[in-house]
Order: sequence, then C-alpha cells, then structure tokens
Amino acid sequence: MPDVTAGAAAPTPHIAPYEARGLKGRILSGVQPTGNLHLGNYLGAIRNFARLQNDFECLYCVVDQHAITQPQDPKLLASQTREIAAAFLAAGIDARKQIIFNQSMVPEHSQLAWVFNCVARVGWMNRMTQFKEKAGKDREAASLGLYAYPALMAADILIYKATHVPVGEDQKQHLELTRDIAQKFNNDFEAPDFFPLTEPLIFGAATRVMSLRDGTKKMSKSDPSDFSRINLTDDADAIAQKIRRAKTDPHPMPDTAADAEKRPDADNLLGIYAALADQEKDAAIAEFAGRQFSEFKAALTELAVAKLGPVGAEMQRLMKDPGHVDSVLRDGAARARALAAPILAETYKIVGFLKP
Ligand code: TRP
Repeated sequence: MPDVTAGAAAPTPHIAPYEARGLKGRILSGVQPTGNLHLGNYLGAIRNFARLQNDFECLYCVVDQHAITQPQDPKLLASQTREIAAAFLAAGIDARKQIIFNQSMVPEHSQLAWVFNCVARVGWMNRMTQFKEKAGKDREAASLGLYAYPALMAADILIYKATHVPVGEDQKQHLELTRDIAQKFNNDFEAPDFFPLTEPLIFGAATRVMSLRDGTKKMSKSDPSDFSRINLTDDADAIAQKIRRAKTDPHPMPDTAADAEKRPDADNLLGIYAALADQEKDAAIAEFAGRQFSEFKAALTELAVAKLGPVGAEMQRLMKDPGHVDSVLRDGAARARALAAPILAETYKIVGFLKP
C-alpha cells in the first residue's frame, strides 16, 4: 500500500503543558498577513516573540482569517502567510518547542468566535477604535467580519486559555475586550474562572517605530513611499540608502532626552538605534550628543545591516522553500488543535450544545 504520509513531516509530539515545565504561562499572539513586514513589526512584535520562548509556552499565529476582514488578493494571501511564518522562524522562534501555525488551519478559532459573537455586545464593538479607523467614513460598507474582528481575536487567545498576550499599544483595547468577553462568559454560564483574564505584555517605548520620512507618523506598510520604512527583506544597500535619506533637522544630534523629544525625526532614529543595540534610548542619546547626523547615520546603518541582514537573508531563503514553511504550519496547526479541541468541547458543553 502506498504510504500516503510520505513526504509530510511527522507531527512533533506535543510537549508537556507549561505548568509541568516550570514556565510562567502560555502566550498567544497573532500577526496579520497583509503585506510586507517592516522594522516596526520586527522591533515592536516579532523580535519580542522570540525572546519570550524561554519563559513561556508560546503559540504564534498567522491570522489569515483576520486578514480577509478587508479585501485581499487570494494569490498574495498565501505567500504573505508564508512570509509571516518565515519571519517568525528567521527571528529565532523554535518551531519544535513552540507552535507556529496559521489561523484557518485550526477551525476551533472560528467555532469559539461564534460563541463569543453571542457573548459580546454590539455596544462594546461600537467603541473599538481600530474598527472606526479601518472602516473609515463609510462604516455601512465595512464587512461584518471587520466589525466582529475583536471577537475572533478573543477566540484566538481564549481557545488556548492563554495567560499572556504580547501586543503593541494599539491592541490594548482589543485585549481589554477579550477580558470582558471572558468575564461575561464565565458569569453568564455560571462557569467561574473557566476562561482566564488574559494579561497584556506591552513592550517598551523604543519599540514604537515611526516613519523615516515623518517622525510623527507610525512606520506603515501602507505609506506610499518605500523610503518611509525599512522592510525586513531589504538588503544592505536598500537599508543604507533609506537611512541616508531619512529625514533629520539642521541641528547637531540632541544632547538630552528633553531635546530629543522636541525633535521627532531625531528621536525616532535614536529609538531605532537603541532598540537595535539593545540599550536604553538615553544611552544612545549620550553616545551621539552634539555630533553630526552623518556620523550617527553611518553608525546606525552599520548596526541595522548587522542586525537585520541575517534575518532578511534567512527569510529570503525560507521563502524559496515554501514546502518547508507549509510543513511547519501544518505541524503547528496539528499541535494547536490538540490544545484547542478539548477547550472547545468543554465550552460547547457549558453552552449546552449536544455532543456530536
Ligand atoms: N489584531 C492584531 C493586530 O492587528 C492581530 C491579532 C489577531 C492578534 N489575533 C490576535 C494579536 C491575538 C494578539 C493576539 O495586530
């Protein structure tokens, strides 16, 4: 009989739960596959994901179902999903110890999301600032999925009873809503402490990366100018050119934190330098105080190329091997389902659904 599993990676056996391994908790975080990853995504999220793996059991999810809350080109969605997975791997997340997967391969997320759609209140959703921003002026034309987005995010987290979620400042409100949903579910169904009240892990100020063309705007994949951002897959020449062209001001480098704060472009570059060098911003300010921007930019370029070059190169290498990336995602999804299925079954029982 032909071996139908030939060529497919054997699923990694699930490792003991975090309590048994002396870890601090279980982490889940998600990244949307909606376009090129840039320095802001790396310093603000993905790099930190890798650093948490010694202390926590980690699940990192490519949230493809969240991506389609706004129109996506199906041809690009698949490669963008692989690109996020490649970035997780290139950043040093160990796919054998941790779980890297994509959301649509684990149907329990959307199954729990439906229950949460019935727990969350319309009034809560109306307060979500991300919905207001993404829906823009014509809110009537936004998808129902975009509106329900936070309930699916709560399901991503609670289907694993995750204890901690590393997120940027902008996701704090969604995490508060996740706690509200957990609490209301536990109360309404008289299931005390069934879902945990998940804690956010918010990373330092140096991780808020602004545009290289305008230090008052966030670095963004949707900025029409590619010079506004450093993409994770940029090579050394592109990185050097973008830093050379980065906006500055006519003064020498700031010599105090107060001075830097008044000069957003300088402040942003110093923040990037400090984050890449793993130091406090004050240390970077002291190092370059009063010097010329040209000197500082040369040092920043050298540092950025040294730190980001290997990550970008590894991503490029992985992107040339989609079969490998897909097998990592499938293996991760199988292990994620093993954790999610019993929690969904318990939830269904609490709600009163008959057992299939
Ligand atoms: N909403 C998050 C963002 O836009 C992505 C996301 C989806 C997420 N599900 C999640 C983040 C669960 C943390 C946990 O960045």
